[in-house]
Order: sequence, then structure tokens, then C-alpha cells
Amino acid sequence: MRFDAQTLAARRARLYEQLGDGAVMILRAGAPKMRSHDTDYRFRAHSDMVYLTGFEEPDAVAVFAPGRSAEQGGPFTLFVRPRDPKKEQWDGRRAGAEGAVDLYGADRGYDLAQLDEELPKLLEGASELHIELGRDSAFDAKLHCLLAGLRRRRGKPPANPSVLRDPRDLIQAMRLVKSDDEIAWLRRASEISAEAHTAAMRACRPGMHEYELQALIEYIFARRGATAPSYNTIVGAGANATILHYIENRDPIADGDIVLIDAGCEFNFYAGDITRSFPANGKFTPAQRDLYQAVLDAEIMGIGMCTADNSWLDVHEATVRSLTQAMVDMGLLSGTLDELIETKAYEKYYMHKTGHWIGIDVHDPNPYYAGGHAAKIPNGAVQTIEPGLYIPADDESAPAELRGIGIRIEDDVLATAAGPEVLTKACPKAVSEIEALVGSGYTLTLP
Ligand code: GLY
Ligand code: MN
Ligand code: MN
Repeated sequence: MRFDAQTLAARRARLYEQLGDGAVMILRAGAPKMRSHDTDYRFRAHSDMVYLTGFEEPDAVAVFAPGRSAEQGGPFTLFVRPRDPKKEQWDGRRAGAEGAVDLYGADRGYDLAQLDEELPKLLEGASELHIELGRDSAFDAKLHCLLAGLRRRRGKPPANPSVLRDPRDLIQAMRLVKSDDEIAWLRRASEISAEAHTAAMRACRPGMHEYELQALIEYIFARRGATAPSYNTIVGAGANATILHYIENRDPIADGDIVLIDAGCEFNFYAGDITRSFPANGKFTPAQRDLYQAVLDAEIMGIGMCTADNSWLDVHEATVRSLTQAMVDMGLLSGTLDELIETKAYEKYYMHKTGHWIGIDVHDPNPYYAGGHAAKIPNGAVQTIEPGLYIPADDESAPAELRGIGIRIEDDVLATAAGPEVLTKACPKAVSEIEALVGSGYTLTLP
């Protein structure tokens, strides 16, 4: 288990307080997904499940019922795969029902096979049920059947919860402001991700393939103890950099290309997310440099706005304004600034938002709106700032020297009472730093 028992117990105590005694919440880890024939993708448990239980095995179901006293079994029940020496020899260890209690702090642990019998007992009499529907149709059908049964018990009053709610509303709000230990893991994920980007810039030279830089980046992630990339690594050279989520990474890198790398690692479940864009040969052309500097200016301004006075939308709108002015100055757009923003003309070259919350999910699904308004950035929240400009290679309306260039610059920023702190600051981004770094050489040392 990667979170200590106290951390998990404290998270559950906060959840119970918000749920109240009449409510029950069900969370599921999810099932493995087939990659090819009889081989699955590596399993990663649902982030809310991990956040509240630390349990990483597939198929597990957690039930939280704050109103259940110790005599009634306690509030936390975990249904897990049974111990099975033969299966464990092939596919890895299982905690089993006993381990759910002894290792994960559940008040009761059961084999998954007992879910149909035990779940109605846990739900009986609850006024409110928090359950995410629409993820697994077989589970949804089972639950509807169970709720109908609780409703029509003969000779007894109905015992079904009358309100169904989505658990994400509560948990994702809890996850917005990070604790000190979460910030430490995000900081480490950012440091490792920064080291990997710096190594890729050092190693790059024209003639290499995109996948060679991907390999170096993911080597450093693994070597530093990160468990995985927190999303598919993007290495796009030349016009590939204009595709936002380009993950093929198969092409050669040509002299004169800009290489865009968007990569981050997952450390103890917490994500890093960095983008750097640099000239493959170590020297920006004047046009590449103008485009790069426009994005960097917008990014630095956006980072400076990551404070409790602003909402994420304030940051986005200011970034759009800065980039749109730059697009006019560089001959990409013509018209008045207000008109180009009002008509969203800038979306031709800047089509995504300026950032997202980051945490145990790379796109941490914390609330973006509160009371109908864009959420302010609380101290302790972490977000990315990632403006970009993407000029398609076949865009005949763009100045010829700008066509086929994609630039994005992305850092992870913690809002604090003392101002924004850039967790990814170890990764260079000034033009002079990048030009000194690219191609300076990286020697892969194995201990
Ligand atoms: N790599 C995904 C993102 O930057 O949001
Ligand atoms: Mn991002
Ligand atoms: Mn990214």
C-alpha cells in the first residue's frame, strides 16, 4: 500500500462528515481491459477508490456507510477478489478479504462473491445512495434490481434510498486542495518529469526518431521510481507538433524542426505534466523564436495569475488576450483585438483551454464551477498553465515561415498564500537556456 493508514483514515473521516449518517457511498476499482487477445492493459484502479482506500486490485467494491456503528460492523466494507494460490502464482498477489481488514483498514472484508448477499444489508434504510451509474451496465442492472427489491418488501416499509447522487461531486471537491503529503508527491512527479525533459533536450539531434526521445524520457521516469507515464507521451517533430495529442512518435526528426514534447510521470499515484518545444538543431529561426516567445510571455503571465484572487477562467481569458495580440502582430490574424476574441477567431491557432487541475489524475476532475461561476483558485490547488500556438502546415492564410510549427509550454503550478509556486521550475524554458541545452549531449549511465 502506498498511502499510510492514517492518511487514508483521515480522508475517510472527512468523507463521512460530509456524507452524513443516512447516506451510503459505493465506489468501484474498475475491471482490467483487454489489449490484445488474452493480454490486458496494465490495470490502474479508479482514482477515487485509491484516494479513499489505497486498494489497487481490480474489481474491488468499497461501501462507505457512516451511520453503521462498530456493533453493526462499522462504516467501511471492502469486497475483493478471493485469495487463490494458483491464480496468484500467474497474475500476482491478492490481499483477500482478510488482507482488506488487516492491511487496508476495512471494518469488514468480503469476497466479491458475497456482494449480492451483503450489499442489500448495507443499503437497507439508507436515505441517500452515492453511486456512479453508466460505467458498468451489468453493475447498474444489479443495483436497480436490488433497489427495486428494497422498495417492494412485503409486510415491511420500503427500505430503499430515495435519493441517488453521484459520488464524484463530493470526492472531487475534497481532492481540489492538496494536503502536504500530496504536494510532496506532486513535487516529486514534477522533478522527475523535469529531469526527463532536460535529458531529452540534451540528447536531441536531427536524424533521431521521435521514439528515441520517448524512450529516454520514459527510462528516466522508471529509473527514478515513477510507476508510469501519467498519460501517453507526446513527441512531435515538425508538423506533428501541431497535433495536440500526437502519440505515434514514429517519425524522424529533421534539421529545422521544432520538437514538441508533452510528457509527465506518475509518482505514488500523483501526476506530472510538462510540455517543452525546442529547435531540433539547437537554434530557433527568427519566425520560430517569435512564435515561441509569444507563447512563453503568455505562459509566464498566466503563471503569475495563479492566485486566490483569480478564477481559472480569468487566467484563460488573459492568456487568450495575450496570444491573440501576438497572432495579430505576427500576421496570423487581422482585426481588432476585442472582435477577434468576441468571435473566437483565435481558436484557429489556439483551440484549447490554458490549463487544468492536476493531482491523482493528470486532468484532476475537481470542480471548475461553483455556484454557476468559474471556480477561484484556492491556495493548495495545483493546476497546469499550458498555452500554445499551432499553425497547420497547409494553412495558406498564415505567413509561410510560420506554417507547420506547433509550440506549447506547460508547467505545473501550486497556488500558495505567498504566490504561485512552479513545481516544474527545474525544466528550462527561456530561449537562451533552451538553445544552450539542446544537443549539448546526454550520456546514459547505468549504475
Ligand atoms: N498531456 C495532456 C495535457 O497536457 O493536458
Ligand atoms: Mn496538461
Ligand atoms: Mn501536457
